[in-house]
Amino acid sequence: MAERGVAVVTGGGSGIGLAIADALAAEGWKLLVADLSADALRGARARLMRHGESRVRFVQMDVADEASVIAGLEGCETGFGPVRGLVNSAGIGRDVPFFETSVQLFRKILDINLVGTFVVAREVGRLMKANGGGAIVNIASVSGLRGNIGRSAYGASKGGVVTLTQVMACELASDNIRVNAIAPGPIETPLVKAMHNDEVRAGWLKAVPQRRYAAPEEIAGAASFLLDASKASFVTGHVLAVDGGFTAAGLLPPYP
Ligand SMILES: NC(=O)c1ccc[n+]([C@@H]2O[C@H](COP(=O)([O-])OP(=O)(O)OC[C@H]3O[C@@H](n4cnc5c(N)ncnc54)[C@H](O)[C@@H]3O)[C@@H](O)[C@H]2O)c1
Repeated sequence: MAERGVAVVTGGGSGIGLAIADALAAEGWKLLVADLSADALRGARARLMRHGESRVRFVQMDVADEASVIAGLEGCETGFGPVRGLVNSAGIGRDVPFFETSVQLFRKILDINLVGTFVVAREVGRLMKANGGGAIVNIASVSGLRGNIGRSAYGASKGGVVTLTQVMACELASDNIRVNAIAPGPIETPLVKAMHNDEVRAGWLKAVPQRRYAAPEEIAGAASFLLDASKASFVTGHVLAVDGGFTAAGLLPPYP
């Protein structure tokens, strides 16, 4: 198997990040799995250790805290390998009506989803630049592309991630760093279990042409493609919706 270097995966302890980490390790990436939750990191260790103890490292990190990000990345290449990949999957979501959204909640969501993505990308990007290049995948959301109700803060944070991705793609092209985003539709993860009640679920099933939620593993192929310099060498600044057709949809049949 080809040696691809080290990929940093934030939010790698759960859901989409964990599924991506698992797929990347199976393709020959070494992994630095970063997450705020010690519990999630323990669960991830149990799942990812099959790839070999020397190929996966774990670090507790708060992406919203610049000092924590810098400390978590310190020495991450030593005795491991050059960082060439980053997946920014750490994030939180809340479903709150516009008039009930507090400034505190709005700031918290922006801090983790948008500022966190920026800080990690800046710090990991510096390592990539020193290594001659790499690829970054930011996990945005279809809620960053459409006005989904209840998502003023979450949608704004993900819309920001989309624009950040485009700016970074333009600025970092000269450093041989490609930057893309994935905009998932509804994916069955712990975050969604907490966020989607029956009514919200029914709404998604009506609006998604494929009429289902996806498994986190169904995002992994897109991330692996976008990180792969042999397949996506001219793909940068792109936002790839992996959404069962949600963003393509207009008028849909009224069934099931
Ligand atoms: N599940 C979906 O339907 C869906 C759809 C679109 C986008 N997304 C995005 O995908 C990403 C992953 O979501 P998921 O559904 O897998 O959720 P998840 O809750 O299963 O995983 C998110 C992980 O991020 C970690 N995290 C949260 N705050 C953090 C912080 N400050 N620092 C470091 N780690 C932190 C959590 O501990 C958790 O392990 C998020 O950015 C989310 O917005 C999810």
